[in-house]
Amino acid sequence: MTEKLIIFDTTLRDGEQSPGASMNVAEKLRIASRLEELGVDVIEAGFPAASKGDMEAVSQVAQKLSRSAVAGLARTNKDDIDKAWAAVSGARHPRIHVFIASSDIHMEHKLRMPRDTVVEHAIAGVRYARTFTDDVEFSAEDASRSDRVFLCKLFEAAISAGATTINIPDTVGYAIPSEFADLVKYVRQHTPNIHKAVISVHCHNDLGLATANTLAALAAGARQAEVTINGIGERAGNTSMEEVVMAIRTRASSFPLISTIDTAKIYPTSKLVSMLTGMIVQPNKAIVGANAFAHEAGIHQDGMLKNPMTYEIMRPEDVGVSSSTLVLGKHSGRKALYDRLKEIGYNLSPPEIDTVFVKFKELADRKKNIVEEDLEILVSENIMDTAD
Ligand code: KIV
Ligand code: ZN
Repeated sequence: MTEKLIIFDTTLRDGEQSPGASMNVAEKLRIASRLEELGVDVIEAGFPAASKGDMEAVSQVAQKLSRSAVAGLARTNKDDIDKAWAAVSGARHPRIHVFIASSDIHMEHKLRMPRDTVVEHAIAGVRYARTFTDDVEFSAEDASRSDRVFLCKLFEAAISAGATTINIPDTVGYAIPSEFADLVKYVRQHTPNIHKAVISVHCHNDLGLATANTLAALAAGARQAEVTINGIGERAGNTSMEEVVMAIRTRASSFPLISTIDTAKIYPTSKLVSMLTGMIVQPNKAIVGANAFAHEAGIHQDGMLKNPMTYEIMRPEDVGVSSSTLVLGKHSGRKALYDRLKEIGYNLSPPEIDTVFVKFKELADRKKNIVEEDLEILVSENIMDTAD
């Protein structure tokens, strides 16, 4: 049976924590509207206690959106929760997201609290948040480095206090897929009332494993994925939305999950986020990178011209990219060159193509990308001159 995967987007909160990526209110509103159009279930718009600007942004996003739930992050103290509620209360579907750290290293060195106090704070925070809304998420920060027995005790306490979503963050991107899947299974088996809450995962990419860990967790029973557009976020970033959504869609038989994301809007959303945050997308980034649907090798180009499925596992238009590109470079073959020349108006005979192809390879050894003007020159110097 296919189950729903809840997409919780934190581009505006954790994504904004990427160094240099902070956004003003107008920018956040623009991205929030786009995320809603994209079909995101929950938009974490910010951390209202962090600054007046963030409070204002979350509150405006909350008032503007109607379909997506709007979440505000809060520590377990009353002041944070009051601010989070003040910010999200105008939303049609408000969520308060309460968190406290659960690993020994965080509890001892950062919070300076013993385990029992952390449990008390979690209960008090969730209970207080529930006085405002019945949609309360609880996160155990650094869950993947926490003692599992304690983690389940903390989750059970949060659920008893009223948490409706339990989030398992891999805060420092330390987990590996098999171990993270195991952790999700362990939490499901050892938290007596876990069936009353949705299990969520929130992964960071310090070892480049955020998407792999998220997918492993989904296979193990998590039903909410916390993600950002283009994978932006603290340090090496968060799990990227486009990767998770396209993985469960492309590998549907391995993931009986369905998301409400309109995948054809992924690429334009990626562009908007990149433009407004100033975070450039690396060319080889999966799904949305400039090279994600570009082919240079002759053998690949030949396959693509015969049947795109030889070298593409998804159609570019499925993610909002207009078409695949066959890039002309030193690895390109005669057929791709012939086709491109024809496209720009040169219908060359086989001997002419042979001549141009030799010159093209010489040029491609010196120049990385061969553009239309280069082809024009190659033809005029080698064919038209000969014809003269
Ligand atoms: O990475 C993390 O642990 C977080 C929490 C606040 C969910 O961002
Ligand atoms: Zn995070």
